[in-house]
Amino acid sequence: MAKKFYITTPIYYPSGNFHIGNAYTTVIADCIKRYKQNRGYDVFFLTGTDEHGEKIATKASEVNKTPQEYVDDIVSRAKKLWAELGINYDDFIRTTDERHVKVAQDVFSKFLAQDDIYKSSYKGLYCRSCEAYWTPTQVGENNECPDCGKVTEVKEEEAYFFRMNKYAPWLINYYKEHPDFVVPHARINEMLNNFLLPGLNDLCVSRTSIDWGIEVKEDPKHVIYVWIDALTNYISALGYNSDDDSRFKKYWEDEDCEVVHLMSKEIIRFHTIYWPIMLKQLGLRLPSKIYSHGWVLMKGGKMSKSVGNVVYPGYLINKYGVDTLRYYMTKIVPFGQDGTFTPEMFIENINTDLVNNIGNLLSRTVAMIIKYFDGVVPSIDESCINEYDTKLTSAINNLVDKFESNMDEMKLTEGITNIFEIGDYANKYIDEKTPWILAKDESRRGELANCMNLLAEALRKIAIMFTSFFVETPEKMFAQLGTKEENKAYSTLRENLSAGCNVSKLEPLFTRLDVNVEAEYIDNKMKEGLPY
Ligand code: MSP
Repeated sequence: MAKKFYITTPIYYPSGNFHIGNAYTTVIADCIKRYKQNRGYDVFFLTGTDEHGEKIATKASEVNKTPQEYVDDIVSRAKKLWAELGINYDDFIRTTDERHVKVAQDVFSKFLAQDDIYKSSYKGLYCRSCEAYWTPTQVGENNECPDCGKVTEVKEEEAYFFRMNKYAPWLINYYKEHPDFVVPHARINEMLNNFLLPGLNDLCVSRTSIDWGIEVKEDPKHVIYVWIDALTNYISALGYNSDDDSRFKKYWEDEDCEVVHLMSKEIIRFHTIYWPIMLKQLGLRLPSKIYSHGWVLMKGGKMSKSVGNVVYPGYLINKYGVDTLRYYMTKIVPFGQDGTFTPEMFIENINTDLVNNIGNLLSRTVAMIIKYFDGVVPSIDESCINEYDTKLTSAINNLVDKFESNMDEMKLTEGITNIFEIGDYANKYIDEKTPWILAKDESRRGELANCMNLLAEALRKIAIMFTSFFVETPEKMFAQLGTKEENKAYSTLRENLSAGCNVSKLEPLFTRLDVNVEAEYIDNKMKEGLPY
């Protein structure tokens, strides 16, 4: 039976149109799904939206909409954006979905019945923007929120609390026994030093001051506060506690299914502390891995409308094609670390990697096969394989192995870089083999055939490996290479199958861009912004 893999993104706040930051995690999750599927896994990929809370209600009233109208509008735009980005999710959970509301309420009731949740009152320093309370030791000198930097305010209200403190020793031990639970590992130490070892506070899990939320069934003046509501999405979407819980059984209950939650570092606390404790108290297994990646930063620091540096993916996709953006997010932003988006770097890298390396390799190869072999990829002539051929073949084999081991360890940037390294080798090989000289000498026809065969084959392999990252480019490459349907499969990656294919010269894969002109275009688009 196929191995199973369940991957999730955070459910994003639909407080405004999604920008390149939200798109980033979703693209990464999509690439992981595509790779795992290529390797024969049965994958389930969940994304969605976290629709409750004061901030959304405020945003909605600013534009004279009800919160539901407001989130419906953003969600339909988000789904359109995911389609444009080629995101192949299996389910989109909204916390306003009935199926989710019921599970969040049931989970809350269970905790209440078990005495994991108790009623008290809360006074704390509250950040409206992040919807989080902070303790005096966590805020800055001027009471600013440690996450977003905005000034917090003192707030007190009747509230329910989850006895997180009680389970801290269990969690500390769990971390010890499962050193791979959090990636990168250093985040565990941050959790230990900042939250667990100083004494974990119980978590406030309800509000009376907010209307836009899921009611606590037992005490309807309270709404379930955002994190219990939000975190349960990962199981409500699978049908936990519902009439049809087949997906839940398949992707969650089965310990053999690998479960990975992907996110960036600012919400790692909720996923590595509160979520494991909640699951334990529900009697459920824990995720296999909580993966925290870095931030996509902008020229002026963090993205902000007032700075005018918010990048919306839509116009980049329309102008430069979806794969240029997916390329930038996976290769240029180093997965696991912070990376910067600047219009200049975006365009320059497209020129270097996509136009010069891969685009050029494809157009040169196709042109030569047309010129020297009437457009049909020749077979290998074993009698005249030379050292350049063997060197190229072993370099490619080596890079295919490296690619797989990097991708298996979720080192996506290293993985995609290996593909471009194949391109570098193949371009260098052309310069060393000098096919235009071989072509002048009929007695060297075999050497020329080997050169064309190996180049077509290198490109077929590149296209197959690209299927983990790109949504349009692989097919465009296969079309020019005349690759047969059955030879596009990932399982054929280690074979040589291009001989006999009819190549065709079609539109260039990527066109060279003028850095100044395009950077100015993107800068202007950033300043224009979008309606929300
Ligand atoms: N609703 C919560 C998550 C609940 S999950 C149970 C939330 N929403 S959010 O809209 O603020 O999304 C945060 C997530 O969006 C980050 O964890 C990250 O995955 C992604 N990103 C948002 N901006 C980002 C960057 N600038 N760079 C990279 N990813 C970022 O938190």
